Amino acid sequence: MKAVILAGGSGTRLYPVTISVNKHFLPIYNKPMIYYPLSLVMLLGIKEVLFIVNPSDIESFKKLFGNGSHLGMNIKYTIQEKPNGLAEGLVLAEDFIGNDNICYMLGDNIFYGHDLVRIMKDAKKEIETGGGAYVFGYYVKDPERFGIVEFDEEGNVKSIEEKPKNPKSNYAVVGMYFYDNRAVEIAKNVRPSERGELEITSVNEKYLKDGKLKVKLLGRGFAWFDAGTHDSFLEAGEFVATIEKKTGLMVGCIEEIAFNNGWITKEELIKLAEPLRKTEYGKYLMELAKKP
Ligand code: DAU
Repeated sequence: MKAVILAGGSGTRLYPVTISVNKHFLPIYNKPMIYYPLSLVMLLGIKEVLFIVNPSDIESFKKLFGNGSHLGMNIKYTIQEKPNGLAEGLVLAEDFIGNDNICYMLGDNIFYGHDLVRIMKDAKKEIETGGGAYVFGYYVKDPERFGIVEFDEEGNVKSIEEKPKNPKSNYAVVGMYFYDNRAVEIAKNVRPSERGELEITSVNEKYLKDGKLKVKLLGRGFAWFDAGTHDSFLEAGEFVATIEKKTGLMVGCIEEIAFNNGWITKEELIKLAEPLRKTEYGKYLMELAKKP
């Protein structure tokens, strides 16, 4: 399975902050927002990652991640000329995806939870063995902002709608999707929605129609943030700060994950920590390298 991370978009809901800077570089507490979705992909053991980026941001992304070799990864970039919608990313990623299955992540989504990685690994395995699409639902108070999934009495998915004016439930589809290779062809046939975007929800709807969409609810014990508005951005930062200070462990620390995955050596970790030595982040990496 390969991963595609969407890091384009206009970020207008974070204006004026994002007039001159792409939101994915903004700090969620002590690291750029984009580290969080990347870290999840890494926790799944996926080394091949494609970032979908705006034309004006590609150099900054390259400055941050290069070709990924310092993390033991293979990172590539594709430009999305205009923010035409999330489904377009699948089409733009066609060559990168090849015949593989896809882990599709939104660059502004932040997840935290005890069993999260196991649950994601199960989803990955299910797609690799049985195909289809696997997405996750999360209870929200403001369903008009999201893709919303409706269930019948038996818990089967009845409908899925993007930003409904009259939401049929409070379960938002979060920005972490697992797809078989068909998703690319499905995305090619998506037509713009009323708001003029190629919606990922239309891709999910097609899988639902074909009886191939699985939705798992993330219940208590999970925190999920779509950090695309001022409030959710602040909430996510405060949450990460609290968790890190309480546990003494970092959330979304890509160098730590690369090291724990065995993708980089202790010496390589120290080399990565060196330029960060004036920060708690760098000290944390140094401590990690010192552990027996
Ligand atoms: O966060 C979950 C929600 O994300 C889902 O519930 C919705 O179904 C889904 O449509 C999406 O809604 P948003 O309105 O929050 O999407 P947003 O425009 O914020 O874009 C999500 C990410 O994708 C963000 O990191 C920017 C990036 N993006 C967005 C667009 C529209 C792109 O890379 N290209 C794009 O064309």
